[in-house]
Amino acid sequence: MNAQPFPIRFKLTHPGDQSLHAKLEWFLHQPGIILAAVEPLQGGTVSELHISRKGVILLSGEERLRFHPSMALLRLMNLERGQADRFLGATGLTPGDALLDATLGLGTDALVAAFAVGPQGSVVGIEQAAILAALVKDGLATLGARHDVVGVSAAKAKAWVGLFEAAPRIQVCWEEHGEFLKNLGDQTFDVVYFDPMFRRTRTKSASIRPLHAYAEHGELTRETIAAACRVARKRVVLKERKGSREFARLGFEVVESGRYSQVDYGVIESD
Ligand SMILES: C[S@@+](CC[C@H](N)C(=O)[O-])C[C@H]1O[C@@H](n2cnc3c(N)ncnc32)[C@H](O)[C@@H]1O
Repeated sequence: MNAQPFPIRFKLTHPGDQSLHAKLEWFLHQPGIILAAVEPLQGGTVSELHISRKGVILLSGEERLRFHPSMALLRLMNLERGQADRFLGATGLTPGDALLDATLGLGTDALVAAFAVGPQGSVVGIEQAAILAALVKDGLATLGARHDVVGVSAAKAKAWVGLFEAAPRIQVCWEEHGEFLKNLGDQTFDVVYFDPMFRRTRTKSASIRPLHAYAEHGELTRETIAAACRVARKRVVLKERKGSREFARLGFEVVESGRYSQVDYGVIESD
């Protein structure tokens, strides 16, 4: 299914602040974002974007979603300590590589990838949900301005700086990944990565629950994986729930199976 426009309402915490108006204008110019009618049709909930001097929060009923690179920060700190990262192990990304992240979500994996590929590398992130694409694009563009590293430990400061440098290497695209892949030439990226929404949701997880309200939950198709194999110079990688039948259905060999982890990584190597 093609990416659909997303109707939304806005609230500025300081209506007299021109910088907040500029941010509102920016969001209204993002592809797929349209201003909602004042009252939701058929009594539905319309999401609201709260734009404040501290940042942007997306509200829908009780759920609140904001861009924050929390897990990416922790993962960069672990990498700096010499610990392995399973996503990087599965993708095999090295400096200078180009990654197509076909399921950008909140951009955590994309940030870790952008750090790993370094200044000569690049990451393109595809996200079908227009509001997530816009939220992440804004979050990445303003990351350095919203966080300062004064008073944090040296290790944390180093990781933050790594994130600030990595963020501009990520290009965010609002699109359905099957459509996007169809239009790419052969071998245009080193690695293509999929981290789709799991079929069975663990609604208990507070961090992932808000994402569920906006994310696309469709099943990956064999056609999409075939297109990804054509586009990837090195490999196609799938992250899925441990023991998922998706690996076999889509032709992936499980390579990164963490004993205590809930997820596995599967790979299709390019010929
Ligand atoms: C589990 S999240 C990805 C999380 C991401 N790896 C991260 O580190 O933040 C999956 C995301 O893929 C998006 N998605 C699902 N199907 C898609 C499709 N066909 N095209 C583009 N994006 C899609 C969902 O909207 C959701 O935001």
